Amino acid sequence: MNARIALVSGLATLVVLTPPVMSRPLLHTPAERDVVLAEMRAMLESLSRIVHGLAAGDLLMAEKAARASGMKATVESRLEKKLPAHFLQLGRRVHTRFDQLAEAIKTGATKDDALKRLAALTGYCVACHSAYRLEEMRPD
Ligand code: HEC
Repeated sequence: MNARIALVSGLATLVVLTPPVMSRPLLHTPAERDVVLAEMRAMLESLSRIVHGLAAGDLLMAEKAARASGMKATVESRLEKKLPAHFLQLGRRVHTRFDQLAEAIKTGATKDDALKRLAALTGYCVACHSAYRLEEMRPD
């Protein structure tokens, strides 16, 4: 029984990142997947705080939340060799948008302007999610 469990866990689960047009499957370890997902959850948290900040008129909170998901927050460099260029490009763009939003709020953007920027920014979330997904599979 123990030996069997060891054997099963020895077959490390791999994660496949599926490109929109199947070219080649990209293999990822669960640890690498966790890095990507942690970055995702951080961006969702930023979005939530930005919207709360704007709604409550707490612009400093909104600015900080946007900054937290700016280019500095990108962890993709660690995975750069494994991720497709288009995926990395979308990632860089969304982080840049967070930085630009932070800067705009800092320099006195209106709520309306911030909202337009948020609309553009979230378009990247939607675009990437509709193009890629992480898939777990076992090697055979
Ligand atoms: C460069 C591509 C890309 C961009 C841009 C992107 N995501 Fe993701 N995100 C993914 C992938 C791939 C997954 C895994 C989806 C799957 O396999 O089901 C994911 C998953 C997530 C998850 C699930 C996290 C978990 O723990 O399961 C959240 C939340 C998320 N993204 C939020 C966002 C938000 C918010 C944005 C925009 C601010 C965003 N993402 C932008 C690629 C991206």
